[in-house]
Amino acid sequence: MDVKVKKVGVLGCGLMGSGIAQVAAQAGYPTTVVEVSKEALEAGLKRIDRFLAGGVAKGKVTPQDKEATQSRIAGSVDLAAVAECDLVIEAVVEDLAVKRETLARVGTSLRPEAILASNTSSLSITEMASATRRPGRFVGLHFFNPVPLMKLVEVVHTIHTEPGVADAVTGFARSLGKTPIRTSDRTGFIVNRLLVPYLLDAIRALEEGVGSITDIDHGMKLGCGHPMGPLTLNDLVGLDTTLYIADIMYQEFRERRFAPPPLMKRMVLAGFLGRKSGRGFYDYGSEPPRPNDFLVSR
Ligand code: 3HC
Repeated sequence: MDVKVKKVGVLGCGLMGSGIAQVAAQAGYPTTVVEVSKEALEAGLKRIDRFLAGGVAKGKVTPQDKEATQSRIAGSVDLAAVAECDLVIEAVVEDLAVKRETLARVGTSLRPEAILASNTSSLSITEMASATRRPGRFVGLHFFNPVPLMKLVEVVHTIHTEPGVADAVTGFARSLGKTPIRTSDRTGFIVNRLLVPYLLDAIRALEEGVGSITDIDHGMKLGCGHPMGPLTLNDLVGLDTTLYIADIMYQEFRERRFAPPPLMKRMVLAGFLGRKSGRGFYDYGSEPPRPNDFLVSR
């Protein structure tokens, strides 16, 4: 069963969902994005507007492209709105029960040849696929944050995936200007398997007094040419997100490198989630952000 992706659906308009909807619409696809409430939908559409406005201000996007992109995005709070889409990408909260329920419901309204994909960063694609009546037409499609700027997409197949489905999705990722890489359904796929232990180790280094927040970040930024240091990246991804991914990876592999450090757990409990809560390893109330002085004796 071949399918040509002409219309795209995105479930969830949070940080990742809004980015995915934006890049699909920018690439010319009529895109329908579904949220659970009008407020969440409005916040997601505003995020897209802000990003595109930033692109216009930087001379990266023309005002005409901004308008055309936004005109291709339709928002809804009804899952049935994506029934006509050829590819529906799920980007709702990283909660297996919520994802399975959403996917099972949406799967019943799609045409048989349509493809369902999940943007999960760590949950099992096979477990999600089996919640639908179309496990053969289900793949992982893992975008990176910030979606409009990061060039990579991981395409994840399972033992269920029908021939041609991963190819169709790989072609779709290319049409967005992204570079797809293929991987099998193992928690963390390729990138998080390598990235998560690194992010956790940077926190362990801080806990152990190896260096200060800024020195650890400068170390990797200036010593290894990374675009941002690991503690800044923890703040960008969100400590709650990385903690959640690390817990799942630890459960799957039982290896210490995936075990979340105590400081991280406490920061999440305290609401120090990074950029999104205004405070993580850095305080985002000032520009440039100021390193927080926890771990410094008072
Ligand atoms: N519209 C269009 N273009 C924009 C833009 C906008 N609103 N905002 C920025 N840009 C462009 C800039 O013009 C610039 O383009 P250029 O390279 O041609 O000059 C480019 O994007 C970079 O922007 P900035 O110069 O403003 O910012 P930085 O150079 O500081 O880069 C960054 C920002 C791309 C976020 C970079 O710091 C980076 O790559 N960081 C690492 C991010 C990362 O690792 N993400 C992955 C996280 S892990 C993940 O997502 C997986 C999940 O499962 C956890």
